Amino acid sequence: MPTPATTAGDTAWFTHDRFGMFVHWGLYALPARHEWVQSRELIDGARYQRYFEHFDPDLYDPHEWAAAARAAGMKYVVLTAKHHEGFCLWDSQATGYKAPNTPCGRDLLRPFAEAFRAAGLRVGLYYSLIDWHHPHFPIDIYHPLRDRPDAAELNQGRDIGIYAEYMRQQVRELLTGYGPIDIIWFDFSYPERAYRGLPGKGRADWQSERLLALARELQPGIIVDNRLDLPADQADIHTPEQFQPREWLRVNGQPVVWETCQTFSGSWGYHRDEASWKSPEQLIQMLVNSVACGGNLLMNAGPTARGTLDERARGALAAYAEWMRLHSRAIYGCTQSQYAAPPDCRFTQRGSRLYLHIFSWPFRHLHLEGFAGKVAYAQLLNDASEIRLLEPGRHDEWSIAATSANTLTLELPVVKPDVVVPVIELFLNP
Ligand code: GLC
Repeated sequence: MPTPATTAGDTAWFTHDRFGMFVHWGLYALPARHEWVQSRELIDGARYQRYFEHFDPDLYDPHEWAAAARAAGMKYVVLTAKHHEGFCLWDSQATGYKAPNTPCGRDLLRPFAEAFRAAGLRVGLYYSLIDWHHPHFPIDIYHPLRDRPDAAELNQGRDIGIYAEYMRQQVRELLTGYGPIDIIWFDFSYPERAYRGLPGKGRADWQSERLLALARELQPGIIVDNRLDLPADQADIHTPEQFQPREWLRVNGQPVVWETCQTFSGSWGYHRDEASWKSPEQLIQMLVNSVACGGNLLMNAGPTARGTLDERARGALAAYAEWMRLHSRAIYGCTQSQYAAPPDCRFTQRGSRLYLHIFSWPFRHLHLEGFAGKVAYAQLLNDASEIRLLEPGRHDEWSIAATSANTLTLELPVVKPDVVVPVIELFLNP
């Protein structure tokens, strides 16, 4: 089994818990057409102000969100305290561009952190390195003013050192004023991406070493992601986004602790008209596949500007809740198995318990090559009903003659159990 090198942050709980919730919430919930809307549509600060002036999430109840996350089996949450638009959900002393100054009139982070902790989840914060509102953030490839003919001139008056100091002040607020913060998710660096003479940004711009040291000093044990543009071994977790690894993630040839982040429908912020919502099968399979490859899943929800999770998001969370109610022991504390799974299946393993997740239900028999004599008992996890084991010697010739001598065959019910992804729990012989 791959064993990642130890890093400064405490990842023991993280690799046990496996499943978290990402929450992208900010002013972009109002236009409701992607959290990058300001950049994509080149909306300048004056025009974007309309969302600030109308931000009033009157139905915001973080206890409801926390209850939905907990029921879904999620063990931690990461909230966008500030996304690229620069808007702050907390009562930052470093800016007026914050929730308390909108019609909503209050700090939204404090009740959030309290509600999720009360529900038993660990709390992490996402903090955008990119900031399209700060006057000292130099215009670059993603900035909404990038196509202005005078962009380079405007940059003359912008001093990224002042912005870097601002970030440290904000990170200090977040990591001292809101109780234990278990994860900080900095996002993101693009040192190579120049645009019409406007340079990209990386560690020298953010002063990443100082940000990292500050985070570790203020919250010892905090988990820090890998998007600060620092050497890979400085990061506690690596964060493949919107794709599913097929094996344990390696960086520079070394296995790492990793977490894939995914969306229900494509965008991270609330998107009213998006039609690409994933099916329950896809949602469950992503979780299973992540754990089967030794990683975590951070699944995103984008609440509306009323402060609610819409029906589609609730439905997706309910799909997890239903499946996790019966199958969480094939997820928590599990990791990549020492064995290779048969076609259309995934293995997760915890000690001598091997979990066979069946993505495509076969007819009556599932053959496990190399497993003869290895399994003491097997059952369907959803109802603990026995799955009979056909060891090689007991094969009758007309039914499963094609299997090899060291193949163990599981005798399955013809009808797929009524769960999205059935799991067979195999008790391995010592
Ligand atoms: C990307 C996007 C962003 C999102 C993030 C989540 O970096 O910039 O909108 O917050 O991915 O991983």
